[in-house]
Amino acid sequence: TYVIAQPCVDVKDKACVEECPFDCIYEGERMLYIHPDQCDDCGACEAVCPVEAVRYEDELPEGWRPFAAVNAEFCAGLGSPGGAASIGPIGRDHPLVAALPKV
Ligand code: F3S
Ligand code: F3S
Repeated sequence: TYVIAQPCVDVKDKACVEECPFDCIYEGERMLYIHPDQCDDCGACEAVCPVEAVRYEDELPEGWRPFAAVNAEFCAGLGSPGGAASIGPIGRDHPLVAALPKV
């Protein structure tokens, strides 16, 4: 699956949301998260993110590896939503993201 990593935090460009054909990118308070069970690995989101926050899980740089679990755990906490558009912004984050210092 693809993963959104640290550069998205407090940026939230959302170009990825427009591109995703599967509506599987969910908006948290400080970043967005890809639902691993709903992502079809099309990679469209990776190409459009202006801060290169999206990576294939196996290609995450060392320091961003925890974000695979961050995306998966945050989305697991949503239950089985039918799609990101139907639930809209979620006013919270994964604890690891919530704890990051504000720039
Ligand atoms: Fe974030 Fe990039 Fe999408 S900044 S919201 S992953 S386009
Ligand atoms: Fe969507 Fe990106 Fe996956 S565009 S289907 S989240 S690879």
